[in-house]
Amino acid sequence: MSKAVIVLGAQWGDEGKGKIVDMLTEHSDAVVRFQGGHNAGHTIIVGDNKVVLHLIPSGILHENVECLIGNGVVLSPEALLEEMQMLQEKEIDFEDRLKISSSCPLILPYHVALDQAREKKLGKQAIGTTGRGIGPAYEDKVSRRGLRVTDIFDTQQLSNKIESILDYHNFVLKNYYNSEVFDPNSVLHDLLPMLEKMKPFVCDVSERLQEFKFLDKNILFEGAQGSFLDIDHGTYPFVTSSNTVAGGACVGAGIGPKDIDYVLGVAKAYTTRVGEGPFPTELFDETGKMLSTKGNEFGATTGRPRRCGWLDVVALSKAVRVNGLDAICLTKIDVLDELESIKVCIDYDEDNAMKPKYVEYEGWCESTLNIQEFDQLPEAAQSYIKAIENYLGIPIDIISTGPKRNQNIIRKEVFS
Ligand code: GDP
Ligand code: IMO
Ligand code: MG
Repeated sequence: MSKAVIVLGAQWGDEGKGKIVDMLTEHSDAVVRFQGGHNAGHTIIVGDNKVVLHLIPSGILHENVECLIGNGVVLSPEALLEEMQMLQEKEIDFEDRLKISSSCPLILPYHVALDQAREKKLGKQAIGTTGRGIGPAYEDKVSRRGLRVTDIFDTQQLSNKIESILDYHNFVLKNYYNSEVFDPNSVLHDLLPMLEKMKPFVCDVSERLQEFKFLDKNILFEGAQGSFLDIDHGTYPFVTSSNTVAGGACVGAGIGPKDIDYVLGVAKAYTTRVGEGPFPTELFDETGKMLSTKGNEFGATTGRPRRCGWLDVVALSKAVRVNGLDAICLTKIDVLDELESIKVCIDYDEDNAMKPKYVEYEGWCESTLNIQEFDQLPEAAQSYIKAIENYLGIPIDIISTGPKRNQNIIRKEVFS
């Protein structure tokens, strides 16, 4: 029996989704991105090779696996071509197995300018976006003025649309943000050669997924960002502009809810967040610094330092609920190795949700790096993992014990 599996972030992003998707792709025939854009940064390490993917699904390192970009993804032609070039330089072939939905909204240079101008104007209230134009591109989509991949096939129409969109955005850029305006002709001129390179990859992703299903093939849906960055369920307004939760996979790839068999939430054994917004368990002390250093917590897209703190199972329980998670994949347990005691937030102060109540667990003070069997973990690490399972009421099916593809404890095969 084939299976369709969603892998998504259960916290504020950077949980290790890329690593896990790459690892699970061994048993999968297709990998699909369904939301977000090149704000994502998914790191895969195989042997001594490190690849960071922003837009192309994290299955691409596996030969013969089809990688699809669904309609829910906002697509920057420039970012896509850059990533294709990066793959070519690494001699990773993709020509026959990369597919792009004709319904993806396009991210164009004026979206980037709008994103950055808005953040600048917000000053201290800024969201701390990645500055990649994600929000403005989604705004153009829902306002029904945006360009989509399908528009690239008619140059005259494309030219007309760019002109009319810029009529609107230039007004805002000039009069509201006091920023540079864009010349429609030069936007089009820069764009056309990129679009030619994109054309061969365009397809109907929803139909293609139906074919996969019909052929009894396994499909992986790769989430970007994380559940608390979801536009509806996250820490609004400090969120991204898409639905990062499991429901987004249906909308953003063109499948039905009944097509999904298993939803895996990836969570770090602690918590990180990049950008602004509430983070109740954030640490500003030596432990926070240790997590940042040992976890190498710097954004894979912008290089910004990630804020670090303890695991928050109250928040994680919400992620279980809004995604309908079947199981958790717990990553970076090895980063906690040297701690003598480890705290987990199990409640918040009645009068102040930013004041967590903690339970303290004994640390293990030995290496868990590279361990592949659960019963070889130090007992204190086993207890920590079991305690989290108890709080959440769902199993931790996978434990990641290092950044490399094969550094995992698999307690239950996802595709079995
Ligand atoms: P994503 O956005 O969810 O794909 O995660 P990122 O790639 O942005 O960040 C996760 C970081 O943690 C990357 O540098 C990974 O190489 C690394 N990583 C993933 N799993 C583990 C793990 O179990 N242990 C350690 N030490 N690093 C990990
Ligand atoms: P992956 O897929 C972590 C954050 C930004 C900012 C907010 C809005 O690698 O986990 P945006 O540019 O999307 O409008 O920014 O969302 N953000 C991420 N944080 N990981 C990501 O992706 C992120 N993508 C966006 O830092 O707080
Ligand atoms: Mg990331």
